[in-house]
Amino acid sequence: MISGDRRCLVAGNWKMNGLLDEAMAYIEALGENPAPEKVEIAIMPPFTLLHPMGERLERKGIRLGAQSVFYEEKGAFTGSISPLMLRDAGCHYVILGHSERRDILHEANEVILKKLKASWKAGLEPILCIGEHLDEREAGKTNEVLREQLSILEGTDPAAPLTVAYEPVWAIGTGVTPTLEQVEETHAFVHEELKRYGRTCRVLYGGSVKPSNAEDLMSCAGVNGALVGGASLDPRSFMGIVEAAARAVS
Ligand code: PGA
Repeated sequence: MISGDRRCLVAGNWKMNGLLDEAMAYIEALGENPAPEKVEIAIMPPFTLLHPMGERLERKGIRLGAQSVFYEEKGAFTGSISPLMLRDAGCHYVILGHSERRDILHEANEVILKKLKASWKAGLEPILCIGEHLDEREAGKTNEVLREQLSILEGTDPAAPLTVAYEPVWAIGTGVTPTLEQVEETHAFVHEELKRYGRTCRVLYGGSVKPSNAEDLMSCAGVNGALVGGASLDPRSFMGIVEAAARAVS
């Protein structure tokens, strides 16, 4: 199921949620050795929790990630966080191109490419999110949209670390998920597209993943893990998804 020799990844995107007390209680609730052998776990809390969570998560074998980054190294960019700052805070991953940033903050492909390059320069592994809106799916334009979003990889170094997350926008936070056939079909397309840029990398599925559907979704051909929003906020449901991932890969 997993392309290459990498473990499947279950990543929790907390979005704009989480205060210090809650984060400490969450880490406590994860227990001693939360990561099963074949599953890598990562958590992307808001910026304010990166420092206090980083080392504590590392002790449990969980990787830290950020939800976004700015593309400059430092300077007069009020309110921005640089890739070096994320490394300094202990981040391994950074999410780029999430649909909430594309749609609400109007982040375009050109900006995402700058962030991608700046992240690589600082030694971060980007998780590049791609996905179509419902009207695009209904108009049969899914592949066209994904191809365009992936086209920023043209001319980039195929050896630079990358994970892709396919997240149909209509499945994010809605409780609706694509059929397993749609997931397999789309993931196959994404893996094929990645080959155009010389890449074989993990492609996560994201959008309303929960403990009850995680095993089915992660058993789909071409699905190499999950990017989890809402269900990652509760440690029990997040760990339920991690356990489902371990079953799916066994
Ligand atoms: P969701 O979010 O799991 O709440 O649907 C997924 C995401 O936005 O990454």
